[in-house]
Amino acid sequence: MRRLGYVILVMLVAAALPGMVWAGPHDDCTLCHGVHSGQGPVILTETPNTTTINPRTGKPMKRIGSLCLACHAPEPDGAGYRPVDLNHTHPVGFTPDPNKVVLPAQSKGFPGEEEDVVCTSCHDQHPSNPYYMYLRWPSDGGSNLPMFCAKCHPKQSAAENIQRQ
Ligand code: HEC
Ligand code: HEC
Ligand code: HEC
Ligand code: HEC
Repeated sequence: MRRLGYVILVMLVAAALPGMVWAGPHDDCTLCHGVHSGQGPVILTETPNTTTINPRTGKPMKRIGSLCLACHAPEPDGAGYRPVDLNHTHPVGFTPDPNKVVLPAQSKGFPGEEEDVVCTSCHDQHPSNPYYMYLRWPSDGGSNLPMFCAKCHPKQSAAENIQRQ
């Protein structure tokens, strides 16, 4: 019973901590970067996911996408954390039509995939990013996503959301 009490105490402390020191799920650099145990580019800890097929291309995702999907694809292909299913996801992993969208410079991928729209076109997964869901641009904490969409889709967006970018 003492052991159980200890476990409960640890759980309570852990529950109280997130707002204080553990601000976001990606806060630990070594979740993604293996300082002496890297697997591929930017010393990522996870083996890239090369099994999930992208319905847009009929092929697995390339570099950045395959890194994110090592953790975020549904099991068994990925670790299943907040799973993102490519069959139901904003199109990724191809070269977009420049007449349809405006792709900002920060949205480009690794060398060799500059023209692709990738996971990091919309997200900057680093703890330094203060925005909702690690998005690259503000969305009033998620309450105004159209403001975020306006960055690349000005043709479809309300004027006030383009101005607020
Ligand atoms: C969720 C996974 C993840 C976490 C956590 C993470 N990184 Fe990264 N990091 C990446 C990915 C993917 C890239 C390559 C794409 C990019 O530059 O955003 C990268 C790139 C980098 C780069 C190279 C940037 C450049 O411009 O060449 C550095 C340096 C880096 N990370 C440091 C850190 C540090 C320090 C932390 C902790 C404070 C951290 N990362 C946490 C995934 C992560
Ligand atoms: C090593 C595993 C790992 C990798 C690689 C990884 N993530 Fe995560 N990510 C996590 C975990 C764990 C969580 C928290 C899951 C939960 O809340 O259940 C998370 C949460 C998130 C969230 C939700 C943030 C929030 O505020 O709730 C987003 C968005 C995200 N990741 C995007 C990305 C993107 C984009 C990449 C690739 C650049 C990436 N992640 C790579 C492990 C990873
Ligand atoms: C970083 C830029 C970027 C952001 C931000 C962005 N998109 Fe897109 N979007 C694209 C690109 C690139 C395409 C593909 C254009 C093409 O077909 O060549 C696209 C295509 C689409 C499509 C067409 C889908 C299809 O199957 O053809 C829809 C709908 C869409 N986006 C909605 C959104 C919404 C809603 C948001 C905000 C939550 C958003 N986008 C944010 C870049 C972006
Ligand atoms: C067009 C922009 C865009 C692209 C590209 C994109 N995301 Fe997202 N992502 C978003 C937005 C916006 C949200 C927040 C959605 C909401 O709150 O309704 C989000 C949420 C998430 C979450 C949290 C999901 C949850 O259940 O809470 C994860 C994890 C994530 N994205 C990972 C990825 C990965 C991995 C990729 C690449 C395969 C990717 N994203 C590509 C815009 C994008």
